[in-house]
Amino acid sequence: MGSKISLALALLLELLWAAAGLHRSQFPDSFLFGASTSSYQVEGAWLEGNKSATIWDVFTHLPGKIKDGSNGDVADDHYHRYLEDVELMHSLGLNAYRFSISWSRVLPRGRFGDINTIGVEFYNNLINSVLSKGIQPVVSLCHLDIPQELEDRYGAWLSPEIQEDFGYFAEVCFKAFGDRVKYWITINEPNLMLKFGYLIGTIPPCRCSLPYGNCTSGDSTLEPYIAAHNVILAHATAVDIYKSKYQVKQGGFIGIVINCKWYEQLRNVSEDYIAAQRALAFDVGWILDPIIFGDYPTEMREILGSKLPTFISQERRKLRHKIDFIGINHYTTHYVKDCIFSSCELNKYDGNALVFTSAQRNGQLIGTPTPMENIFVVPYGMEKVIMYFKERYNSTPMYIMENGFPQKSSNDMLLDDLVKDPDRIDFMQNYLTFLTKAMRQGADVRGYFVWSLMDNFEWLYGYSVRFGLYHVDYTTQKRTPKQSAKWYQEFLADQRLLH
Ligand code: NOJ
Repeated sequence: MGSKISLALALLLELLWAAAGLHRSQFPDSFLFGASTSSYQVEGAWLEGNKSATIWDVFTHLPGKIKDGSNGDVADDHYHRYLEDVELMHSLGLNAYRFSISWSRVLPRGRFGDINTIGVEFYNNLINSVLSKGIQPVVSLCHLDIPQELEDRYGAWLSPEIQEDFGYFAEVCFKAFGDRVKYWITINEPNLMLKFGYLIGTIPPCRCSLPYGNCTSGDSTLEPYIAAHNVILAHATAVDIYKSKYQVKQGGFIGIVINCKWYEQLRNVSEDYIAAQRALAFDVGWILDPIIFGDYPTEMREILGSKLPTFISQERRKLRHKIDFIGINHYTTHYVKDCIFSSCELNKYDGNALVFTSAQRNGQLIGTPTPMENIFVVPYGMEKVIMYFKERYNSTPMYIMENGFPQKSSNDMLLDDLVKDPDRIDFMQNYLTFLTKAMRQGADVRGYFVWSLMDNFEWLYGYSVRFGLYHVDYTTQKRTPKQSAKWYQEFLADQRLLH
């Protein structure tokens, strides 16, 4: 009886809360509300100020690689326009801005050359101007664009050498910027980088593993796991350096950012429930389990056996420091079907998890499609993902480091139409509402960042989709607020208390 009453009360509270709508005051004052970008996607100035070429500079200059034939040579020209862009952040009312440092700008030749003072100065200026507006810089050390020289010299992530190189780069950044940067991210979305760069082979360094990939280099089924091992240990090297030499003095936090879509079981059978758990383990656990618990998930070990490297004792020691937070990039949800006990076609995007993922169940889409083939709008996924992380990773604090809506763009579309983005407003409002639901169940979420501050170079899609709160005209570089920018600004300014 008592439990029925408390359930009814909880439901009533939930209804009242939902009816009250979404308000800034539902989040603590200290909650970080920001927007994210990354160096290659916005900076441009690809060879200015002694910067060297990154693997993305080289890749985008090969014919046929990018949907609209574009590249990031100029992108948003943020390198020259950062002051204007900091004004955009300020006028939105953000209290945090997430960006990445281009390794090639700070250390054009990795640890084989000198520190590039021009690159250091650029980031000093950016950090100082962001801080002067009361905005916290949240800095990723690696967001896909690593120096080409590291690839040419030793195969970058495929070699253990990268661990030392990354540690060196991280330390240069902690020394140069750590007096002012209090939130560090080692690597952005290593899981997607490994999947697309080493398993399927569609992004640099375009290595692939049979039977999933269709590229010509690589073709070793071991490579994704070797690269992942080095990614994990490179991350651990940076964390080790920060925690043992800088954290106490500088008083900041360090974490990693993982992409996590939600996997919803396709059929109401236990095989698909287990398949969804397996898909998550292969996607998220692959990186986070070693970092947080010291070893790869058992779900992976059972299927991959000795293909999966083991952490030798010296490597385990490197993993001894825990991260301070998990960053989550969440966009979408897919259905999952088991492929161990059921007959089905393996899906190349899900590696070796022996699952089939799909956006359809009985001919019905899981959510509204977007111009990006794998992104469907499924707001409840936000709550599910957060609760999954809460349970699996013992309530490690979380930040939603990216969440955003891709809008179609083509040369014949008018500015007037492109700044009208009600779908993006609905997207943010609904995903944020599910985020608050997770917080009410005790999830320790401390920040939310929109992808992205402004339209920018969307990797394989080039400039053909737009994620920005601000529209960017790539001919004039003019920034124009979209309706979503105004919505976010009003949401952040609304200090009403709900009583
Ligand atoms: C995740 C990546 O971190 C970012 O670079 C990308 O542009 C967005 N998702 C959208 O695809």
